[in-house]
Amino acid sequence: MPLTLTRPELQRSAYFIAGQWRPAAASGATLAVTDPATGVVITHVPDCGPPEALAALDAAHAAFPGWKKVPAKQRAQIIKRWNDLVLAHQDDLGKLISREQGKPLAEGKGEVAYAASYIEWFAEEATRMNGEVIPAPVPGRRMFALKEPVGVVAAITPWNFPAAMIARKIAPALAAGCTVVCKPAEDTPLTSLALVLLAQEAGVPDGVLNIVTASREKTPEVVDVWLDDARVRKITFTGSTPVGKHLAQRSADTLKKLSLELGGNAPFIVFEDADIDAAVEGLMSAKFRNGGQTCVSPNRVFVHGQVHDEFASKLSTRVAALKVGPASDPASQIGPMINDRAVEKIERHVQDAVARGAKVLAGGRRLSDLGPNYYAPTVLVNADATMACSCEETFGPVVPITRFNSEAEVIAAANDTPFGLAAYFYSTDVRRIWRVAEVLETGIVGINEGALAAEAAPFGGVKASGYGREGSVHGLDDYLHIKYLCQGQL
Ligand code: SIN
Repeated sequence: MPLTLTRPELQRSAYFIAGQWRPAAASGATLAVTDPATGVVITHVPDCGPPEALAALDAAHAAFPGWKKVPAKQRAQIIKRWNDLVLAHQDDLGKLISREQGKPLAEGKGEVAYAASYIEWFAEEATRMNGEVIPAPVPGRRMFALKEPVGVVAAITPWNFPAAMIARKIAPALAAGCTVVCKPAEDTPLTSLALVLLAQEAGVPDGVLNIVTASREKTPEVVDVWLDDARVRKITFTGSTPVGKHLAQRSADTLKKLSLELGGNAPFIVFEDADIDAAVEGLMSAKFRNGGQTCVSPNRVFVHGQVHDEFASKLSTRVAALKVGPASDPASQIGPMINDRAVEKIERHVQDAVARGAKVLAGGRRLSDLGPNYYAPTVLVNADATMACSCEETFGPVVPITRFNSEAEVIAAANDTPFGLAAYFYSTDVRRIWRVAEVLETGIVGINEGALAAEAAPFGGVKASGYGREGSVHGLDDYLHIKYLCQGQL
């Protein structure tokens, strides 16, 4: 089915440097963008390499002194106009997201509103980059701390939330007075390009925001140009832990600031005193958002022996009723996975779990009759820590349930992972709530709540899930440094 947009020019097939849309990479190579529901090519975009990465960086570097000096209120007004344009094009952007990423249309449009909420938030935060007047320890001196933008930011964004992650990284960078070079995920460049067009229309000056598209093969060449160049002062990345480690290692020579939103392995714990219906609802919303392709998606579910069977049975009934289908069908609740590799990983995890003794209560198979990348929402019981689905992030619609018998046992199991992004638990005991919230080794904890996302909240992890916070009053700090001024002879 053709992609029909109210404003067809939002579908771009060019990269953007120094205020110009450029249709071809120097090499002439192109990257096919496909619909994950069908595998059919939607369009091609340029497959950029080092020459385009360098041109983007030159433009961002040249634009930085001017953008940094634009008064915060004026930067805020431009970013606010960007927010307004994003919301005005919610339908078209939602269609682009759903078509290239696969999430159902209602979720695609929801993601646009979610993205806009970050843009609006950081437009407002731009005007609150207050410094400090510090009491001087001796007479005749005044001491101050100013906040300044770090410089050029390289933003490397993922495919699972192609609008929200661009917004959450680029809006604070612009608000702080930084300029940006961006490389969107190879699977979902179209949403990012449309957002950049709207930023241009909102009045973001030439060179302040630059974006280059690149395939999986060319991405390392593009990113290495930015990693090795001292003019890039900050890297912001959402993606896998191995890539995050590579970025940290390779940028060490030029000592860049880094924000890394990396992999997760979120535990979801249901205690014996939990409200079971609320826990089932919480898991449904946390787990099946974007078909489980979310960094904060519960990956390991632990249920107390006393309530295990009730929880597993209620959950399986809900999961079996989920409607799987393409974004184009308004009834769809779960879309296709992003690509073959994603479905193969899910299949491998379920097969491994079953081979090691897990039992399938719902799903447990590919849905090849629907298209190439569909997998049935799945519930497994008898999961244990030896299974691949307990050690690796499945990033799909699979719920492996492990039975536990004591709080100490489940806390040890929940924390027994290198990762530390999100954790969830359900309990009605207020003492236990504080005890457990404080010992979970994660950056985010959902307590009797599955839907945690909000622009006003600090999003980020600990341990191998990375560092830095996005959103909230802290989200601007990663794009700023503090300059100390000391004036004497007063
Ligand atoms: C992510 O999966 O990286 C982001 C999820 C969210 O914003 O809630």
